[in-house]
Amino acid sequence: MTGDLFCASGAVGSYLEALSEGAVVLRGRALPVADALLAAIRTVADAAPFRRMITPGGFEMSVAMTNCGGGGWVTDRKGYRYTPTDPQTGAPWPAMPGVFLDLAEAAAAEAGFPGFVPDACLINRYEPGARLSLHQDKDERDYAHPIVSVSLGLPATFQFGGRKRADSVSKVALSHGDVVVWGGPARLHHHGVLTLRDGEHPATGRTRFNLTLRRAM
Ligand code: SIN
Ligand code: FE2
Repeated sequence: MTGDLFCASGAVGSYLEALSEGAVVLRGRALPVADALLAAIRTVADAAPFRRMITPGGFEMSVAMTNCGGGGWVTDRKGYRYTPTDPQTGAPWPAMPGVFLDLAEAAAAEAGFPGFVPDACLINRYEPGARLSLHQDKDERDYAHPIVSVSLGLPATFQFGGRKRADSVSKVALSHGDVVVWGGPARLHHHGVLTLRDGEHPATGRTRFNLTLRRAM
């Protein structure tokens, strides 16, 4: 169940939907720049290809990932962490595209977190059957900054729970262009993505992309 609807201040064509204190969905907020975001994802992936990483427990993730910005989130047998370089190429992660920075700053401000300047963006690629189990984003240095999450392509069911793993979990349908922001009292809330259903999206084909913009380093 989601919360009340409010009129967004200044964001033409989008609106805020509260998930919990500190967490909102901005429906369609990324639509005006969706094509530019997808083009930027392709540029990042040309330099730092999508790959399915290995969890510390030895399982290959079903979601393929890459990163851009000063730090990139990685997992391998040694654990979860941010690295300044891509372990696969040895090169620094590609620079954060301006269109990512601008959208993240604007969306965070509309959600009540002004002055957000992300330094890391994890780019997730889901194909039908991929899922992301319930987790907290807690590998960042400082939880004072929110997380800005942008959905592109095939729709997905996002799970949003509470601080404790056992807290009740809401299911939120996310479509192309939706942006979720969580911070403040919701910063360490659990979240995940249910198994992606097959489909065809005009902008991405049989794929969902998600950007999570963070202040990590
Ligand atoms: C994440 O938690 O890293 C991704 C969330 C999503 O794909 O919507
Ligand atoms: Fe996450």
